[in-house]
Amino acid sequence: MSTLGTEVELDLVVERKETMAVGVVLLTLRHPENRPLPEWQPGAHIDLVLRVDMVRQYSLCGDPADRSRFQVAVLREPESRGGSSHVHEVLMEGESVRVRGPRNHFPLVKAKNYLFIAGGIGITPILPMVAAVNATRADWRLVYGGRTRASMAFGEMLRRAYGERVSLRPQDEYGLLDLPALLGKPQRRTAVYSCGPEPLLAAVEVGCEKWPSGSLHLERFAPKQGATAGPQSSFEVELAQSGKKLLVSEDMSVLEAVEAAGVPVMTSCEEGICGTCETKVLSGAIDHRDSVLTEAERAAGDTMMICVSRAKGDRLVLDV
Ligand code: FES
Repeated sequence: MSTLGTEVELDLVVERKETMAVGVVLLTLRHPENRPLPEWQPGAHIDLVLRVDMVRQYSLCGDPADRSRFQVAVLREPESRGGSSHVHEVLMEGESVRVRGPRNHFPLVKAKNYLFIAGGIGITPILPMVAAVNATRADWRLVYGGRTRASMAFGEMLRRAYGERVSLRPQDEYGLLDLPALLGKPQRRTAVYSCGPEPLLAAVEVGCEKWPSGSLHLERFAPKQGATAGPQSSFEVELAQSGKKLLVSEDMSVLEAVEAAGVPVMTSCEEGICGTCETKVLSGAIDHRDSVLTEAERAAGDTMMICVSRAKGDRLVLDV
């Protein structure tokens, strides 16, 4: 789902920072003058601008009806590029942090039944989803895996709130999630939502291959394996709003070419996973290399992530 043109930027205050599980802190952010925060829906994420050169995306995990605060949970990543350790070690209660968004590329669709499969910190976008679905007549189930029970943020809270609908499956007690048992029999009118580490998502994708088209909804923290690979040929990009024509050479991205032409563009991950740089395409065939758009959105061919995607032919015209 496109959220083009809905970006806002706010300086919020870290009202609370609390440990939710081993290696996971929950940040509660408020407006310094207690103004209401932008609306959002389950599946949305925000950017935290931790430094000018350090922008990270985190799923909103609180209650969308509570406009007084945003909540995000942050896992300390052993292989961190600096973002999660900055949140854990540097960012303190009472400090200000710049927030961009919210943005939603993982929206909750209407279905009769829902199967949620979360791995580790991938539980965060699922939290407001199960709350929303639980308030309807839909049938649902959540299977939540993690390394150990102590590392699984919100696990016990989910069990207390929803009982048997929630299966907690720490790996040291149960092994890997039994996806063949969960996904082996395709279900009609059932939406499968999954978020977590790439191996889990890749396995869920394989497990859903025989499910009706459109059943599976994924959100990734890292680019899908091989997503950005492909031929690196040069092509022309025309910026419709200014009439500028740019050459995107083999070794540069569309984003780099646009920025080099002095045209400001909103970016964040620059890996094709957050959706910030989504840009309308007015003509030309797109070589999609992102990990955000659905198959249907790719087929529509009217929008692209310019940080990674390229042209299939000689020319693209962008609504920039
Ligand atoms: Fe994140 Fe392009 S900047 S998808």
